[in-house]
Amino acid sequence: MYLSKLKLKNFRNYKDLKLSLSSGINIFIGDNAQGKTNILESIYVLALTKSPRFGTNNQLIRYGFEEGIISGVLKDSKKMNELKVSLSKTGKKVSMNGKNISKISDYIFNMKVIMFGPEDLDLIKGSPQDRRNFMNIQISQLYAPYVHYLNEYNKILKNRNEYLKFMNLNQYTDPRYLEILDEKLIDRAVIIYKYRYEYFRFISSKIGVVFQKIVGEDGLYIKLENNLDLINYEEEEIRSKFSNKLKNHQKKEILQGTTLYGPHRDDFCFFLEENSMKIFASQGQQRMAIICFKLVEIELFHKILHTMPILLLDDIFSELDVKKRNQLVQYLPTNVQVIVTTTDLKNINKKLVEKGRVLIVKNGNVEEKA
Ligand SMILES: Nc1ncnc2c1ncn2[C@@H]1O[C@H](COP(=O)(O)OP(=O)(O)OP(=O)(O)O)[C@@H](O)[C@H]1O
Ligand SMILES: [Mg+2]
Repeated sequence: MYLSKLKLKNFRNYKDLKLSLSSGINIFIGDNAQGKTNILESIYVLALTKSPRFGTNNQLIRYGFEEGIISGVLKDSKKMNELKVSLSKTGKKVSMNGKNISKISDYIFNMKVIMFGPEDLDLIKGSPQDRRNFMNIQISQLYAPYVHYLNEYNKILKNRNEYLKFMNLNQYTDPRYLEILDEKLIDRAVIIYKYRYEYFRFISSKIGVVFQKIVGEDGLYIKLENNLDLINYEEEEIRSKFSNKLKNHQKKEILQGTTLYGPHRDDFCFFLEENSMKIFASQGQQRMAIICFKLVEIELFHKILHTMPILLLDDIFSELDVKKRNQLVQYLPTNVQVIVTTTDLKNINKKLVEKGRVLIVKNGNVEEKA
């Protein structure tokens, strides 16, 4: 799939922008703080209604304005859809082909994006929460039911935490009610794990080979980590281990007023030859490991969805040495829309520049290079 048109109204430093994009390579070039990342961010928000950067959606609206709008035309071999995200201080609205869609979870399954950017290092250096957010967004793009079950899980979790607090403060409570919540929580966890396990199994099976080809080092792998002592992620195992954890730690959970075990505490880690990359790897190795993770994701998206996601590359080449830049470009699939930013065309592999359409970004305006 590819985005053929993008329109921005009062989004970040763009007042009123209309752009046509090529289905191949699009290169946005410009000095610092001109609006390059803002373009990629707008495309990401058009797909997922959330920014990949920290902060609230309010910061996306141009200073001094009440509403910001992103819209675009998304094409693939079979269809063409017009997508629109309207952001306002009171919330966001989404529509497709002029029809409002009330559930965001229904909307976000339309447009697939994978972003490579400077914040990616947080996938190794950041908090488990950062990694969980990332994993949830990615898996939601791949498997339509995931986000539905995740939302349900989170609602039950919230009720359960409230009830644990209530049990801590009140003498007469209903243990059967907690049991019912436990059962519901476990039911959703089984489904959430089915998708998480599938996602990580694919990535783990391929990432080592890609890293070895691009970086020349052996022994990269990633691991999904859970606090239920799961090994095989099979339904029976999840049910019995999760249920035992909740039973055995009930007193502690009531005292703390929170659910201490379950998929909401999952994490994933990168290892190089058995060593945690968070602690032992150089910044360059960390960066390359994440790039390889995303390259494998492209393959997974294609396998599951039978379409290529749109790739958003935010200034990633400047951090890499020439050899790795070239290796990376060789690894990018050819039948995919790539939207890349840079401050200097020299940072981008020549082959990409030759094939690409170059657009110049200057103070919230975009012009085609003459
Ligand atoms: N809500 C907003 N309203 C207006 N302008 C904004 C808003 N948010 C950010 N900006 C402006 O957008 C500009 C930054 O844009 P962006 O991050 O896209 O730059 P960039 O071209 O990617 O720069 P760099 O090369 O440094 O990464 C800054 O000038 C900033 O002040
Ligand atoms: Mg930028």
